[in-house]
Amino acid sequence: MKKLLYSIATLLLLSTGVKADEGMWIPLLLKKYNYEQMKAKGLKLTAEQLYDVNNSSLKDAIVWFNGGCTGEIISSKGLVLTNHHCGYDAIASNSTPGNNILDNGFWAKNNGEEKPIAGMWVSIVQRIEDKTDFVIGQLSGVSEKDRPAKLQEIYKKITDEFKKDGKFEGQMREMFKGNAYYLFVFQKFTDIRLVGTPPQSVGKFGGDADNWMWPRHTGDFSMFRIYANKNNEAAGYAPDNIPYTPKHSLPISMKGVKEGDYAMIYGFPGRTNRYEFSQGIDLAIEKVNPTIVKLRDIRLKAWKEVMDKNEGDRLKLSADYASIANYWKYFIGQTEQMKRLKVYDFKKESEAKFNEFAKGKPQYESVLANVENAYVAYRPIALQRTYLGEGILGVSMNGMASSLFPYATNAKDNKDTAAANKAIKAALANSEDFYSSFFPSADEKILAQILELYYNNIPADQHPAYMAVILKSKGKTTAEKFANYAKMVYAKSFFASKAKFEEFCKAPSYKKLMADPCYAMVDAFYSNYLTKYKPQVDAFTAAIGPEARAYVRGLMEMNPTKTFYPDANSSLRLTYGSVQAYEPKDAVKFDYMTTLDGVMEKYNPKDFEFNAPQKLLDLYTAKDFGNYKREDGKMPVAFITNNDITGGNSGSPVIDGEGRLIGLAFDGNWEAMSGDIVFDEKYKRTINVDIRYVMFLIDKLGGAPHIVGEMNLVK
Ligand code: ARG
Repeated sequence: MKKLLYSIATLLLLSTGVKADEGMWIPLLLKKYNYEQMKAKGLKLTAEQLYDVNNSSLKDAIVWFNGGCTGEIISSKGLVLTNHHCGYDAIASNSTPGNNILDNGFWAKNNGEEKPIAGMWVSIVQRIEDKTDFVIGQLSGVSEKDRPAKLQEIYKKITDEFKKDGKFEGQMREMFKGNAYYLFVFQKFTDIRLVGTPPQSVGKFGGDADNWMWPRHTGDFSMFRIYANKNNEAAGYAPDNIPYTPKHSLPISMKGVKEGDYAMIYGFPGRTNRYEFSQGIDLAIEKVNPTIVKLRDIRLKAWKEVMDKNEGDRLKLSADYASIANYWKYFIGQTEQMKRLKVYDFKKESEAKFNEFAKGKPQYESVLANVENAYVAYRPIALQRTYLGEGILGVSMNGMASSLFPYATNAKDNKDTAAANKAIKAALANSEDFYSSFFPSADEKILAQILELYYNNIPADQHPAYMAVILKSKGKTTAEKFANYAKMVYAKSFFASKAKFEEFCKAPSYKKLMADPCYAMVDAFYSNYLTKYKPQVDAFTAAIGPEARAYVRGLMEMNPTKTFYPDANSSLRLTYGSVQAYEPKDAVKFDYMTTLDGVMEKYNPKDFEFNAPQKLLDLYTAKDFGNYKREDGKMPVAFITNNDITGGNSGSPVIDGEGRLIGLAFDGNWEAMSGDIVFDEKYKRTINVDIRYVMFLIDKLGGAPHIVGEMNLVK
């Protein structure tokens, strides 16, 4: 068995004939499987210049940015470039009506003015190792039920080694649904400071209206700096830390891009699901996605009302609003494009082919039937998870109440007083932050509407018994009942006021907590899920796991000459392709580059999403573009490539054939929003800010030529 699996792990990555644009490749394996093709496409570097362990290489300039994005080092003094939307939270939380850097922009005049961002970190990959053999060997004889726990144990065995001197950190990643395992060794830096940002009318130009769409005109970038101790080692924040000297930093290309130019993107794609079964797609289209959208709609509308009324409140809610809105639109687009591109039918066809191949092969023959059986059991309860996570726990105050779950567990019958006290401490530590951006009146409306949606869309026999208590509230219609119930909760719960919450924490009591209407409600919904539905969700996951693993293995056996790449899983990957225009629909052609002309066309001072700073308008009128303009005198803004990226790649460098930075990736396009499930060669594009626009915005708009001076600009 072990032998078979190993040969399959090798098969997985076998050679020839792949489309260059599709694929998020593991850097360690580029030399073996992709390098020749990359060269044929226009790469001029050696394989060692892309990824090397002993000498510096491109990988040393790529950072995993705060867990959700990518950044790149662009100066010998640890300057990091990433997206504006990746720095958004740091920028917004450093803004007040008196010093509003979110709206006005900011550039530090010197190191002393850079703003330390508490909690922010970046990690740089030191090396990657294939641990498939070892992990699969250790898993032999382990049942499916015990597999997750056993895997954690094996991971720990491998990564504990790095804890000894604490210099590096090991993280394991499962690939190909559990057919391969890789170790990533990181160096993690935690003293990260904000260097600069354009105003959000530039960094988020086009707002949610333009989000996920091309043609685009957003200057989506911000800048940070990595600080290290005197020995250039990673260290916690200290005022006398110094700018980090990287092993490699990317030179900035001033050459500009043309259609067909080679382009590769290095970064940390978060999650794709390219081996999803047709049933999962059907469920997403019919149930899960529309539910997420409806639940997020409620939050967005209520927050927007608050944000429109008051600048200070807008600053407090902006970052949360942006992140909820981003995936609200994502799920609208994903659903629309999965339908348009008939992704379900495509999967059905692939599955039919798989079944042909599987006939008479005991290891594959029952895979798809077993998947269908698992879905038959799961489908009726699938929305429980969505309603809990995006609904009940999406209500801010409910989230706060749920932070006392560990207290309740340990305080009940005085089970573990120390643990109970610890839980109170943890909740208290979070309260300053929570109450500074808590808007009970908006929250109250959100709660009422979410409960009503739950009531209408979850079958009655799946409701918690507590629903009856809620429905005892006054009101002629259910809507009125939920509204009155929510009103009562926010009037009576101690979670609704910081002072009352702190008072509770001073003298916590299990009895008092259970009597709190907010806690009682959250507890009722959560327990309902935990006792009745979580076991079914777990059973579904356990049933699907081995089938997905066999399915991927079977696909590889079916296509022995194809090179497979694993799904994104927040590990370092490289995708290569070229600058490329596309035709979104019949008779429409989208060019590959936008310019500042387009910003002016979209400009509308009455619409906050399309407003622009006066200084940018002036620079445009004066055509004061410095050396950053295009040959025809226009100022480039964004361009598209056919690279294969997803969320997490935000901020990733777009690099030319000579290893120079030509742009940074910041989005995907509408016509290929189904891309996390199926890569569509015809439609899928990556949207990038042109690096020349970034330089122009720092130098001319930001008045910070000293920052540009730190970089290595090459023609
Ligand atoms: N769609 C982008 C991404 O996920 C984020 C864009 C943020 N902008 C916005 N208008 N919400 O990478």
